[in-house]
Amino acid sequence: MKTEEAKYKIEQISEQLRVHNHSYYVLSESNISDYDFDMLLEELQKLEEDFPEYAFEDSPTKRVGGTVAKNFETINHKYRMLSLGNSYSKEDIEDFENRIKKLVENELEYVCELKYDGVAIGITYKNGKLFQAVTRGDGVQGDDITANVKTIRSIPLQLKGNDYPDEFEIRGEIFYPKNVFEALNIAREEAGEDLYANARNTASGTLKMQDSGVVAQRRLDCYLYFVLGDNLPFKTHYDSIKKAGEWGFKIPTEKFKSIKKCKSIDEIFEFINYWDKERSNLNFEIDGIVIKVNNYARQEEIGFTAKSPKWAIAYKFKAEKVATKLLEITYQVGRTGAITPVANLAPVLLAGTTIRRASLHNSDQIEKLDVRVNDTVFIEKGGEIIPKIVGVEVGQRDIFSVPTQYISVCPECQTELHRKEGDAKHFCLNEWGCAPQIKGKMQHFISRKAMNIDGLGEETIDLLYEQNLAKNIADLYELNFDQLFELESFKEKKSQNIIDGLIASKQIPFERVLYATGIRFVGETVAKKLARQFKKIDNIINASFEELIAADEIGDKIAESIIHFFSIESNVELINRLRNHGLQFELSEDQLANATTKLEGLIFVVSGVFSKFSRDELKNSIEQNGGKVSSSISKKTSYIVAGENMGPSKLAKAEKLEVEIINEDRFLELIV
Ligand code: IVH
Repeated sequence: MKTEEAKYKIEQISEQLRVHNHSYYVLSESNISDYDFDMLLEELQKLEEDFPEYAFEDSPTKRVGGTVAKNFETINHKYRMLSLGNSYSKEDIEDFENRIKKLVENELEYVCELKYDGVAIGITYKNGKLFQAVTRGDGVQGDDITANVKTIRSIPLQLKGNDYPDEFEIRGEIFYPKNVFEALNIAREEAGEDLYANARNTASGTLKMQDSGVVAQRRLDCYLYFVLGDNLPFKTHYDSIKKAGEWGFKIPTEKFKSIKKCKSIDEIFEFINYWDKERSNLNFEIDGIVIKVNNYARQEEIGFTAKSPKWAIAYKFKAEKVATKLLEITYQVGRTGAITPVANLAPVLLAGTTIRRASLHNSDQIEKLDVRVNDTVFIEKGGEIIPKIVGVEVGQRDIFSVPTQYISVCPECQTELHRKEGDAKHFCLNEWGCAPQIKGKMQHFISRKAMNIDGLGEETIDLLYEQNLAKNIADLYELNFDQLFELESFKEKKSQNIIDGLIASKQIPFERVLYATGIRFVGETVAKKLARQFKKIDNIINASFEELIAADEIGDKIAESIIHFFSIESNVELINRLRNHGLQFELSEDQLANATTKLEGLIFVVSGVFSKFSRDELKNSIEQNGGKVSSSISKKTSYIVAGENMGPSKLAKAEKLEVEIINEDRFLELIV
């Protein structure tokens, strides 16, 4: 075959296959037999082998996977991956509407959609091509699973049309269709393997497989429901979804009644009631309905809480409830010494999962439910992964039953338990002598948001602890290659990885080291504030209670905890050992050089889209220069930094309260 002819054929067959793919996997319409499809695919594969120079990067043949990932790269989300607030009743939805009505004057329109019960994914497209697919992770950063996602037939590799933005992200949910999941389990049963208990967890496991060739055979599917980008060409969420459909994505549609514009709560409830009945007929799991404010400008006015948009809410269908027997109550000790009672149950099937354990939270909960060993209890699986006990069948209790006596000593180290006023939980205070606490502290130290040490995971920490190789976080830095290499199943690469990861972690900035240290109540944000204001660890160690609470956003509880932490000599020693190993215990020169007090005492509200900064960069810059960022406009607001598309109600409020509005150039002048 001549090369010109081959080039033409490759183009032609690729396009044909793309069209068939879209009809079959996205629109659920079949225009070609499986056999003919496979023949075309085979022909293309052969042509691509003979003329690789003409093969498209995103050819339909690439769907079969083939790349093998060792580790998934961690990627920062450009836009945080938020969750949704939950609601369970008409009253909850009315409250949601009332909260919104306080923030906007215009008439509201909602969009109702299905709440797909799968694994959240964010997919970035550049110039119409699938560029990168990232898992939710912790919402701030996730794993790059592009190779695996590219094998999902309903996700386009190349978009249709020519009116898509140069770059945008689309979010959705990857899941196993019910029939595919069932077939997977039948095959496992035939092969004598354990069955998968839960479709969502299995989908999540599949997406983390290292061999995309295996993922390709698994027939995962994906619905997309949220478009994000810097200057999107739409005014409403509904239009964005419709356009996404035209570009080739599998989206909720009017045709299947899986999306609907609603003007009132009654209309929303019509949609909810319809799907509460119909959901069992779907070939995928949904766990509720999502209600979103349609208009982007209104969404912008309504804004976000730290965790979720205030303009959207999830309505959760009533959870399934079953009865089973409580066999035993055991007690777990957490990283902070907090005790959690756990109900061990007679195994029972609930919403597709076999349940053996449920959390009982604390002693008050046990008392409130008056739950006793041998009781028949009702368990429910709500939004949480861990099911909960919601009641006891008192009528079935035998007459010799006695109330549960809560433990008084730690089940791990036998130290007497304490419960401080205001704490719901009992605590074991033997921080340095109680195994789960010590291991928990080390696990927190290496975790992603803390030191993020490559190669070290929870299991390795357990092993190092059990083998007496690391009994605290400083010991980790004294490990050598030979000690690791001698451990069972530790090959050269794995051992070297850990050593390299530990060395690399010495560059982690002060605020994260401070967070990693694990002082109670010093979370990520507090660690940042402390680092910025005190600049080095010694200033924190030596600070008095008064000095601590004088710092921005540090209250009594945090200050007390910090004082307590450093009053323990072994903690100070630990810090000194880490410092001698070269960890960062003060702000870097760079951070110090960029930090100023130019905005001290000023409170900023940031609104709209900016050209010189991302919104997070702008907020960081305000804080770096000593200013404060607030999410709502009040009399105390010093400036609103406004970009494009600032919401009209924010504008009105700013004018009413006479708060000065500045653009990003004027902001830059404030900090030079
Ligand atoms: S919108 C900022 N729409 O449910 C709003 N989410 O429990 C982003 N989900 O984080 C979410 N179906 O992973 C949206 N139609 C839908 C959804 C949906 C399922 C997931 C998503 C979200 C979680 C919240």
